[in-house]
Amino acid sequence: MLLIDSDDKQHYSLKQIHNKIIEGDALEVLKKIPEKSVNMVFMDPPYFLQLPKKKLKRWNVKTDVEGVEDDWDKFSSFEEYDNFIKKILIELKRIMKENGTIWVISTYHSIFRIGKIMQDMGFWILNNVLWLKSNPMPNWLGVRFTNATETMIWATTGKDVKDYTFHKERAKEFGIGKVGANVWQIPLCTGKERLKDEEGKKIHSTQKPVELLRRIILTTTDEEDIILDPLAGLGTAGYVAKTLNRNFIMIEKEERYNKTALKRFENPLILKTKEKIKKEIE
Ligand SMILES: C[S@@+](CC[C@H](N)C(=O)[O-])C[C@H]1O[C@@H](n2cnc3c(N)ncnc32)[C@H](O)[C@@H]1O
Repeated sequence: MLLIDSDDKQHYSLKQIHNKIIEGDALEVLKKIPEKSVNMVFMDPPYFLQLPKKKLKRWNVKTDVEGVEDDWDKFSSFEEYDNFIKKILIELKRIMKENGTIWVISTYHSIFRIGKIMQDMGFWILNNVLWLKSNPMPNWLGVRFTNATETMIWATTGKDVKDYTFHKERAKEFGIGKVGANVWQIPLCTGKERLKDEEGKKIHSTQKPVELLRRIILTTTDEEDIILDPLAGLGTAGYVAKTLNRNFIMIEKEERYNKTALKRFENPLILKTKEKIKKEIE
């Protein structure tokens, strides 16, 4: 399932990368993927959080707050960040089928920039879906509101695309209210679902909940579709896609994440029922 990208590889056929994790730099790997080949893209890019160097302490117990301190989240400026996002989106637009859709998730730190870049490139935004965290990390210093949401942009390749996939009944099932509005309440990835090393430390700082991907995939793809995740982390998108009889192509540059992602595929995923999730939220 793992494919290591090499410099002398010029192009991949779809067959070569079907249900594979490609270990390499997305900026290089994407250029080698054929055009108009995927039905849906899920992109969970670096947030560019710009955290202060000094560790933040929890006010009551004085323990360190674990933020996203990874090197992959660091950029020297907004300009550098924007360029990174733009380069990836240019390739994604080329690789997406004309009626394909793209989901991009981030926090307030970068989602507005990403939205502008997407609109400037001709992507047509269909929705912003809010992930409302039922167990958000508090604002420990008490100097601003607790950030309990992440925003997901859902878009087509252009304004005139009308024949994209959307399963209305699923949307009603997942969104708040009878009409299925664009707010999804889902807990952060914790407990058994959170992948940890032998010392009990989180393997990835931003592992996304399975339930989030389940909703995205069930509402906006069909069985046998191909889902591309260019910045795959622990491979949550591909893992859920496979469980729901879809196919995936994932790209991730860090070997340590890929090792864990591969292990996930050894254990069949048991998707939680609606009732179980409801219980967790309450
Ligand atoms: C926000 S995380 C994705 C988390 C993932 N959705 C999950 O559930 O585990 C972003 C990922 O992008 C990867 N990444 C950043 N820059 C990359 C690049 N140029 N090529 C490939 N992967 C990259 C990072 O290593 C990180 O794992």
